Amino acid sequence: MKKITITIDGYSSCGKSTLAKQLAKKLGYLYIDSGAMYRAITLYFIQHTVNWNDAEAVKEALRSIHLEFIHNQITGQSDMYLNDENVEPLIREMLVAEKVSEVAAVREVREFAVAQQQKMGKERGIVMDGRDIGTVVFPHAELKIFMTADPAIRVERRFKELYEKNRNITLHEVKENLELRDYIDSNREVSPLRKADDAIILDNSQLTMPEQLDLVLQWVEDAIMAHSS
Ligand code: CDP
Ligand code: CDP
Repeated sequence: MKKITITIDGYSSCGKSTLAKQLAKKLGYLYIDSGAMYRAITLYFIQHTVNWNDAEAVKEALRSIHLEFIHNQITGQSDMYLNDENVEPLIREMLVAEKVSEVAAVREVREFAVAQQQKMGKERGIVMDGRDIGTVVFPHAELKIFMTADPAIRVERRFKELYEKNRNITLHEVKENLELRDYIDSNREVSPLRKADDAIILDNSQLTMPEQLDLVLQWVEDAIMAHSS
């Protein structure tokens, strides 16, 4: 069957990566979590006290950053490696979440990440999730999804996830972080979070994960049909 490119963009914690992973597994496609790349760059900047408001310092630091996704045999998923170190758990922490949207708004950082994302998606058969995948990274993708969910539901979902790992986290802290990130992501100058004109909206506030997967698999079938003639 013809392989296509699937992009999933949308707000924080609406279930983009959950859906993208399930789709990739079901279709035998490659899954790329573009947010992990921005998180890893942010981690590097924090660890090396790089001033991300200084374009020269950013360019210099980016020359020392090597990002790679490596398959994890135990979890069956891809882990983010920063300069040969598995940074998967570290990049999910609040310390990174608090700064990632500022770093991701920097033009040089975006150019660095987008170039690598486009290389990874040269062959079709890829699902990539993020904020600008349908608008900037793969504007010619055959299926574009723009995900959203009720803000209170998104906060609850992310809180549950983080609370399992850190009992000190508060609902308020998670809410503030999601609101701030969505605001910065939607209002930045370079590649703001936007629905591509040809993207389909998926509001999963009231959908279970199997329900949303079934719905999207139908869209995939339709997109393959539409592009095979
Ligand atoms: O999973 P979650 O919604 O928490 O976010 P993520 O996908 O891990 O992305 C973290 C941050 O990276 C976002 O809040 C954006 O600031 C940035 N990002 C971006 O600017 N462009 C992308 N394609 C992906 C992520
Ligand atoms: O990638 P993104 O930040 O958009 O979200 P995610 O990490 O895939 O999902 C955030 C949380 O929402 C996860 O714990 C999912 O299990 C949960 N989720 C859900 O409860 N119901 C859905 N329909 C989709 C995701």
